[in-house]
Amino acid sequence: MKTLADIFEHTLEDVYYAENAITKALPKVAKAATDAKLRQAAEDHLKETKDQIGKLEKVFKSIGKKAEGTKCDAIEGLIKEADGLMKEASGTALDAGLLAACQAVEHYEISRYGSLREWAKDLGHEEAHKLLSEILDQEKATNSKLTNLAVTAINRTTATAKAA
Ligand SMILES: [Fe+2]
Repeated sequence: MKTLADIFEHTLEDVYYAENAITKALPKVAKAATDAKLRQAAEDHLKETKDQIGKLEKVFKSIGKKAEGTKCDAIEGLIKEADGLMKEASGTALDAGLLAACQAVEHYEISRYGSLREWAKDLGHEEAHKLLSEILDQEKATNSKLTNLAVTAINRTTATAKAA
């Protein structure tokens, strides 16, 4: 890799891999969550992630490339952490931990899509810029929803359970 085009394509393959890995991880999160709202959030984000994979395929097409993934070590690590939580935590600790793990994934994605959409713009890939900006906005909205869920419900439940 030498050029901005090279790193753009590489990172696109990285997020494509990551989104596909997330579609396999989210059903496990939904199943493990004990809080109904957290379960619903995981199910909603699964639908959105599938839609984002479709958008990424359009991005690949718009730059004349085949949609393919490159192993993303960052997402593998984040998913591994969540898997560990599912084995080690239970009850409200599990819910609070899983919600935090989902937010770590969102922050990762926000950083990737932020870079990608700027690179797309610099490279003159207008359609890619538009699609990647749409995904970035969705990730930011998901992160806000999760923050809201954490501060209004999950963390409180955890605090109450601890006090009881
Ligand atoms: Fe995503």
